[in-house]
Amino acid sequence: MSEAQLNVAPIPLVPATGCDERAVPLLLQCQRDNVEPSSVCSWIADHRSDFEAKLNAAGTILFRGFGLKSPEDFDQFVSAFGEENFPYEESLSNAVRVVRTERVFSANEAPADVTIFLHHEMAQTPIFPQKLFFFCEIAAAEGGETPLCRSDLLLERLAEVAPQFVTDCEKKGLKYTNVMPGDDDASSGMGRSWRSTLRADARKAAESRLSQLGYSWEWLDGDCLRATTPVLPAVREISPGRRSFFNQLIAASSGWKDTRNDPTKAITYGDGQPLDREAVLLATELAREFSYNVDWQPGDVAMVDNRISMHARQPFIGTRKIWASLVKAERQPIDENPS
Ligand code: FE2
Repeated sequence: MSEAQLNVAPIPLVPATGCDERAVPLLLQCQRDNVEPSSVCSWIADHRSDFEAKLNAAGTILFRGFGLKSPEDFDQFVSAFGEENFPYEESLSNAVRVVRTERVFSANEAPADVTIFLHHEMAQTPIFPQKLFFFCEIAAAEGGETPLCRSDLLLERLAEVAPQFVTDCEKKGLKYTNVMPGDDDASSGMGRSWRSTLRADARKAAESRLSQLGYSWEWLDGDCLRATTPVLPAVREISPGRRSFFNQLIAASSGWKDTRNDPTKAITYGDGQPLDREAVLLATELAREFSYNVDWQPGDVAMVDNRISMHARQPFIGTRKIWASLVKAERQPIDENPS
């Protein structure tokens, strides 16, 4: 199936005022009506290496008009890229989600008024997906955009304006702490229970899993568990000379907040020292310049290179159904002796 048969064209997206134009995703729009899912899948399979190159350049590819209607269509669409699935159950994500198919689960189930701040998916855990896909089944009546931030461009800028902070992040790495409930708490953006996260029904099994992963932990009242990660990198090399601000620093210090968690205690340097508050605020502020807000239309799919682009979620009004799929699990290098 050729591009001409499906009539796919790149459509320019206009960045908001103040947004760097390099942060704009590539939008590929199918302009033929009633396109068959099987034609779309064979078109994807025929163009895999082309998508790889385009994704590497743009950080995100947005597919529009390809006739996807359901999470099952989305599952097929993602499968056509031929990448290994990274199921939610196997991840250490702290978000509560609803699994729909083998590859597809709901994006964060947190209430509509909760803002989810910019982050690289699972950068706060030892295992992360190289890519993620989002599919819009129902767009919110108002709000609910997905900001996507070019983290490589953000890091470049940060290195110019806050070089010591970047050096500290790079040399010391980061440790993240969160408090997990015993049972899922869907009222929080980070309410996944320790039982689900660690796939353990008893404390002993949870401790054994944490120990394998290099975490430290403490049991708290109310069946809660405070867990601290091993030292994880804060900066990642994508290719020679190209690096990204690969961490959850912005989300952890702004948004890891619920009845159990205090964002001021969520993150430290790898040596346990607090982060430079001013620099964290600067990074949060600068990230806006490199962020493009995806305004969803039903049927849209975003393919995101998780090493290059961070994502977030704006609050919304109405019903919003965004599904997610993760591929290619990769292990982070763990620093046992941070400098
Ligand atoms: Fe996420």
